[in-house]
Amino acid sequence: MEAAEKEEISVEDEAVDKTIFRDCSEIAFYRRQKQQLSKNTTYQALLDSVTTEQDSTRFQIISEANKTPLLVEVYGIEKNIFRLKINEETPLKPRYEVPDVITSKLRTVRLVSCPGDAGSLILTDGKGDLKCHISANPFKVDLVSENEAVISINSLGQLYFEHLQIPHKQSRATKGNQESAPADTSQENQEDLGLWEEKFGKFVDVKANGPSSIGLDFSFHGFEHLYGIPQHAESHQLKNTRDGDAYRLYNLDVYGYQIHDKMGIYGSVPYLLAHKQGKTVAIFWLNASETLVEINTEPAVEYTLTQTGAAAAKQKVRCRTDVRWMSESGIIDVFLLTGPTPSDIFKQYSSLTGTQAMPPLFSLGYHQCRWNYEDEQDVKAVDAGFDEHGIPYDVMWLDIEHTEDKKYFTWDKKRFANPRRMQELLRSKKRKLVVISDPHIKVDPDYSVYAKAKEQGFFVKNPEGGDFEGVCWPGLSSYLDFTNPKVREWYSGLFAFPVYQGSTDILFIWNDMNEPSVFRGPELTMQKNAVHYGNWEHRELHNMYGFYQQMATAEGLIRRSKGQERPFVLSRSFFAGSQKYGAVWTGDNAAEWNYLKISIPMLLTLSVSGISFCGADVGGFIGNPETELLVRWYQAGAYQPFFRGHATMNTKRREPWLFGEEYTRLIREAIRERYTLLPYLYSLFYRVHMSSEPVMRPLWVEFPDDLETFSVDDEYMLGSALLVHPITEPQTTMADIFLPGSNEVWYDSKTFAQWKGGCTVKIPVTLDTIPVFQRGGSVVPIKTSVGKSTGWMTDSPYGLRLALSTQDSAEGELYLDDGHSFQYLHQDQFLHRRFSFCSGVLINRCADEKGHYPSKCIVEQILVLGLRKKPSSVTTRSSDGKVQPAAFTYHTKASALSLEKLSLSITDDWEVHIR
Ligand code: NOJ
Repeated sequence: MEAAEKEEISVEDEAVDKTIFRDCSEIAFYRRQKQQLSKNTTYQALLDSVTTEQDSTRFQIISEANKTPLLVEVYGIEKNIFRLKINEETPLKPRYEVPDVITSKLRTVRLVSCPGDAGSLILTDGKGDLKCHISANPFKVDLVSENEAVISINSLGQLYFEHLQIPHKQSRATKGNQESAPADTSQENQEDLGLWEEKFGKFVDVKANGPSSIGLDFSFHGFEHLYGIPQHAESHQLKNTRDGDAYRLYNLDVYGYQIHDKMGIYGSVPYLLAHKQGKTVAIFWLNASETLVEINTEPAVEYTLTQTGAAAAKQKVRCRTDVRWMSESGIIDVFLLTGPTPSDIFKQYSSLTGTQAMPPLFSLGYHQCRWNYEDEQDVKAVDAGFDEHGIPYDVMWLDIEHTEDKKYFTWDKKRFANPRRMQELLRSKKRKLVVISDPHIKVDPDYSVYAKAKEQGFFVKNPEGGDFEGVCWPGLSSYLDFTNPKVREWYSGLFAFPVYQGSTDILFIWNDMNEPSVFRGPELTMQKNAVHYGNWEHRELHNMYGFYQQMATAEGLIRRSKGQERPFVLSRSFFAGSQKYGAVWTGDNAAEWNYLKISIPMLLTLSVSGISFCGADVGGFIGNPETELLVRWYQAGAYQPFFRGHATMNTKRREPWLFGEEYTRLIREAIRERYTLLPYLYSLFYRVHMSSEPVMRPLWVEFPDDLETFSVDDEYMLGSALLVHPITEPQTTMADIFLPGSNEVWYDSKTFAQWKGGCTVKIPVTLDTIPVFQRGGSVVPIKTSVGKSTGWMTDSPYGLRLALSTQDSAEGELYLDDGHSFQYLHQDQFLHRRFSFCSGVLINRCADEKGHYPSKCIVEQILVLGLRKKPSSVTTRSSDGKVQPAAFTYHTKASALSLEKLSLSITDDWEVHIR
């Protein structure tokens, strides 16, 4: 074991060592912003400076404390989005503006000003009822809809902007604006404010550009339910923060992260949604530096206007939630998404940052990982184990030990003497391989990746101009500067088959440690004054580093296939927009029940923040799960978007068949259930890819007017049809399941028992129960038989599970294509079918005439739940008009009709008549 490894493991083996990570009080820009309240920093808009450009309206704002104006730009963007940018008019040097996140297609709409009073400016896009009302003194922006403010900006006067200053000693003591250089300039106070230098333990952050922090407050009127800003091991609904307890967005490697904590972990999406009955809105704070978010809800109050008289007038003040964003650096660049529905919000956000990449089908199967599968023999034995035990799986994973001395793109020759042979074995089983590729590169002149990157100046630099060096798995390492487009291009070329020796087209990639993790660095990451391409300090873009690696890797996998094949890349770190490049997971969780439980809100939060392809290590990465927990985790994982078992080194082996026959059966059942559901899941991924609706949905998304759903995070919807309530407590014998919607009917997917919505039901639970309920009115496409992997199931028949609504109708869809290429996009090679059931007739029709795909598949089974009486006849009618009787069984007790042995082609139009 490397010294570096030993060091990290000894740090990591205990609970999170909080002395390694800063809390808010130890963050200088936070302290500075909190002190602002005591100063005169009220901004005023100079309305005589208003100019209207082609796509924006601009004006200056100024504060008493700082006589240098700031420039405000307001943009209208298609789909009812407003953008507000605030920057210095002429900064000493350019300030960082986040590149590469916003999709290039962004279309602006011209804003026009409407008449208002002298102290304000009113802008509208001229089509909706939305207005942007700018008050001059004090400066405040209200987003007004139907004469009511929905979101106010700076209404609490917390706008904060540190102007860049000249970096010489004298200026540190005497110059600068009031925010960044307060009256008390004693040495002690200067240090405390961390303007030019900030200490944390043994680390000193020397700030070449001095203080450059920004902040702004937003008030959501009438809202008290907020979501988003991943990643935290916290509840789905955001909590109020107390002083010093802000949500932190700072990508960090936190082994065994603490649960119910607002510290930043592996990834950040500075995007927050607010929801109430009838309206959803959101804020996207486009900033990649360290960011803190404070939340405070003021409840609704009712007070009496006059103190006397029986009929004293009462006035109700709506509840309000204030959100304060604070970032270490950059500019204020904020998008206001105005909904009004959750589905509009998802579309608006993806119009800015892109939609979820369409995953290759295999990646929705089960993934088997461990740190580490030891050698080729081990891989072969584990692979065979799945077949011996009748458990499907799609992907074998190799962690860092597969390489020679942790040099990525190489193979340990002793353990993996013949990587191609190993991949051919997997290929023969129609399975894939994923290997790890981290961003740190071992300092070793004989390692060609290192030598070439060094020669071309492709590493992140230290402030002195040399290559930054830090310790990670290989020992001393340099870190590729993925922010440089040339580095990305070069790196993506490393995945080309002739370059990546021993790789084949069934090999895919896992990017880990890309926060980036630097073992001896401050907070186990890169020092903030390391220097990137364009001379930008690491502090400006820290939260995007992993995003860029995943981007380059996905690009590499596409390039190696000459643009033909969809990539699969899992990344630990992420930022807004990472959904375009693949999947993410929740990092180093532990084999404990509360980590299983928290995985649900964590994944829901990622899902509403654009990242649908997400999962948590099944079984828990750290420690040895008790068998019951392992089973429950498989059952939960089977219904989550990314489904991978993983365990750290030194844990006991835990392949699904190692716990005795009964447990093997239970795990097998859970995994097989996943494979049965793949057509539904794949169709959901097509939906999120095309129309931005998350795969895993919190209940409030599907029931936006049902108050009771707003804080539920122990159950969720998979698409709009299935409600899943994983069991996350040991020895559960009864479960309370909340079934939303008073007009809904729900069907237990195993027992077919029917329940009316709008109440909590108690159901008995045994170890083989996975509480899943199908919503009345839905059709779920499934596969009727399960193969060794998705590759074996291409031609296997479909089944349709219909659950009738209170109106005896149901609807659903199926998407299918070749499962791996881009031909669905470039050649319209896909099938999109719609199933609708009404008045006893099930119709299969084309949902998108553009698509065509030559599938041989048939629909073999149809199950109708909620059919009130036994039919007298069931017939099928093909597109050429041919009518045939179909055999059926009716289960009176369950009100379920089952049609078997059908042979209805999935590609054709047909009808089933139930009379
Ligand atoms: C940290 C990752 O979170 C974990 O999944 C992986 O096994 C180790 N690094 C080793 O690569």
